[in-house]
Amino acid sequence: MTNRKKPKVYITRKLPDAVETRMRELFDAELNIDDSPRTQPELVAAVKSADVLVPTVTDRIDSALIEQAGPQLKLIASFSNGFDHIDVDAAAKKGITVTNTPNVLTEDTADMTMALILAVPRRLAEGSRVLTDKPGEWPGWSPTWMLGRRIWGKRIGIVGMGRIGTAVARRAKAFGLSIHYHNRKKVNPATEDELEATYWDSLDQMLARVDIVSVNCPSTPATFHLLSARRLALMQPTSYIVNTARGDIIDESALIQCLRDGRIAGAGLDVFENEPAVNPKLLKLAKDGKAVLLPHMGSATMEGRIDMGDKVIVNIRTFFDGHRPPNRVLPGRT
Ligand code: DGY
Repeated sequence: MTNRKKPKVYITRKLPDAVETRMRELFDAELNIDDSPRTQPELVAAVKSADVLVPTVTDRIDSALIEQAGPQLKLIASFSNGFDHIDVDAAAKKGITVTNTPNVLTEDTADMTMALILAVPRRLAEGSRVLTDKPGEWPGWSPTWMLGRRIWGKRIGIVGMGRIGTAVARRAKAFGLSIHYHNRKKVNPATEDELEATYWDSLDQMLARVDIVSVNCPSTPATFHLLSARRLALMQPTSYIVNTARGDIIDESALIQCLRDGRIAGAGLDVFENEPAVNPKLLKLAKDGKAVLLPHMGSATMEGRIDMGDKVIVNIRTFFDGHRPPNRVLPGRT
């Protein structure tokens, strides 16, 4: 791209220094050094002037915003795996290409899912609080104190057996869990054999039979409140639910009610319906040891963020070199 005018690239959030430096070298990049979330008027100004918008999951790139984009905006290169924050169909109608950053978050997100799968039944957060919140008050080991539930030998039901779901299944199998999954279609026979996985075409049937439910599907209109009050009620009272995908896949109010009533034993949540707001009732449940809550940290590793930045850069460069960017999000997928 040496002798060509550099594309004007507007980045909505602070990215790792290595990514920002490379972007400055390659593009006419407007950075957000102090990481203050961009307001909607700022985003409007950006889509009227930039050639490329680089949003993240915290920006709402809806049809109203896309409608106001100037003709120079050609690419929305999202710094994210998920693209539920972008109206991809509205972008396509305006002739704007959308890309995301798949694959590079898979292992990190699966690690965090596994961490929550362990944390809730084994009471990690509660145990840690015993030492940090009441220093010196630990009376010492006791045979009947702080007992959790065994992971090994239990059944996990994975809702959404895509890249992340499969990576969770591999980890879970290594921890001695037997793998069950619900997906639109069965995974290929080699993966099913490797994981010794049991497929359920009925989500309802699976929920009633597993000990731990892991939510790993994308957020789309079809998965909104997929784990509804009716479905949560199918789960066993000794079972746990973990969500590292998107908050709105679970009906959060219904989940709170189930946890309060003891109809589900516990929840590990990295995502929430109204992020960054977290329902105070969930905070109370966390204090009571019924939930472990994390602030959307599933993919938060330095390596992962740099890999995501590299993907954004490759998508932008490929696009402006006149080729199809590798991580195009096709309309009609949301
Ligand atoms: C994404 O990129 O979709 C993730 O949710 C960020 O962790």
